Amino acid sequence: MNLVVAGTGYVGLVTAVCLAEKGHKVTCVDVDEKKINLMREGKSPIYEEGLEELMHKNKEKLHYTTESGKAYQNADVIFIGVGTPEKKDGSANLKYVYDVAKEIAQNIQKDTYVVIKSTVPIGTNKKIEKYINANTTNGHTVEIISNPEFLSQGTAVRDTLHAQRIVLGANTEKAIQVMKQVYDQFGIEYVITNRESAEMIKYASNDFLALKISYINEIANLCEVVGADITDVAKGMGLDSRIGNKFLNAGIGYGGSCFPKDTKALHWLGNYYDYELKTVKAAIEVNENQKIKLIKKARKYYETFEGLNVAVLGLAFKPNTDDLREAPSLDCMPILLEDGAHIKAYDPVAQANYKKIYPTEIEYCNSIEDTLKDADICFIFTEWDFVKNMDTSLFVKYMKKPIILDGRNCFAIDKMEKEKLIYESIGRKAVTNLSC
Ligand code: UDX
Repeated sequence: MNLVVAGTGYVGLVTAVCLAEKGHKVTCVDVDEKKINLMREGKSPIYEEGLEELMHKNKEKLHYTTESGKAYQNADVIFIGVGTPEKKDGSANLKYVYDVAKEIAQNIQKDTYVVIKSTVPIGTNKKIEKYINANTTNGHTVEIISNPEFLSQGTAVRDTLHAQRIVLGANTEKAIQVMKQVYDQFGIEYVITNRESAEMIKYASNDFLALKISYINEIANLCEVVGADITDVAKGMGLDSRIGNKFLNAGIGYGGSCFPKDTKALHWLGNYYDYELKTVKAAIEVNENQKIKLIKKARKYYETFEGLNVAVLGLAFKPNTDDLREAPSLDCMPILLEDGAHIKAYDPVAQANYKKIYPTEIEYCNSIEDTLKDADICFIFTEWDFVKNMDTSLFVKYMKKPIILDGRNCFAIDKMEKEKLIYESIGRKAVTNLSC
């Protein structure tokens, strides 16, 4: 089969590489020539564990090009994996999907299957099919299949090769058969449905997980006041198989490229149909407050951050990624900077991207020790292994005032109780072994 993937971001590139790993010949199309050249050299434009190795292993089966028209001409199946970013009003921006659709319409030389992997509002697959079929130049038609992805950044390759389900939304049995041929070697259970349900499965899954996080964060906030411990509470809840133990980690809220935009897009869509999704709205509101929770906690110790040395460990929205989209650190940093703090930050992977946003305002470090040196307070925004495994006595050794505000519950309370410091985390008792 001749497979083409449009878009080489997290979804597109990972899909293409995993399809190649399972034996297909895949052409990756992108408008960004720099990215294409990089991939031709065997380098991944995104930081994703195992991806570059698989690109290398399957280099004979992977082709990269900016010549989309040519690629679409003889494709049997075209996957659309381009971004659907958030518009100002919260709705999904489908510009990039339509750009690809237009090119497909202008170039196909035979009837073609088009698979939408991008997260698109319910009803979009149908609209795109109508759009392409109304605009093809030589009478050929396409059939659109909805095939949402559920990969997480950092574990994208594993999540794709060992997905828990392959969702296929299609109108005809023939289309399902073609997709089963594509995914034949994956050995994963299918959920076969109509296109609207497939589109909804994606949004409903992401929004449910976001809701689960906001729920546990609210419970955590209450735990702090009533003297309960969120780690124990989450464990006790999670052992109930109806609840499950995943996505019950309390913290400073969800970020990333999916949950924030997908909650807003579904909420927007509900309102469009005159139905307010109150639970989703609550998840969004709780998350907005949660992202700046550490700053609120810090105000107990310092009314202003003016002239203070502030240490920051972790900048990415979660560990094992260099992605900063909707990272809670980006909500807190402007507040600290506006107050006039002197910030030293360390994130071995994401700080290169941070530098593009704050090239001079922040001092970037190369070690925990340098970051903590003479600090009046330390914020932990990401639960990287380098943080979780660090020697906690370094806080006392290097900081001027060892006040640590941990947004990701990286350390055990009993461990921190042995140190002469102040340690506050999320939903757990505060350690105050230091007078301020
Ligand atoms: C998510 C979905 O998991 C994935 O299925 C979908 O395809 C894309 O969106 P991703 O954004 O890569 O993936 O990361 P994920 O691991 O789900 O984490 C999202 C955010 O939630 C992160 O900021 C993370 O820190 C936060 N989170 C996650 C919590 O705060 N607590 C948890 O228990 C889990």
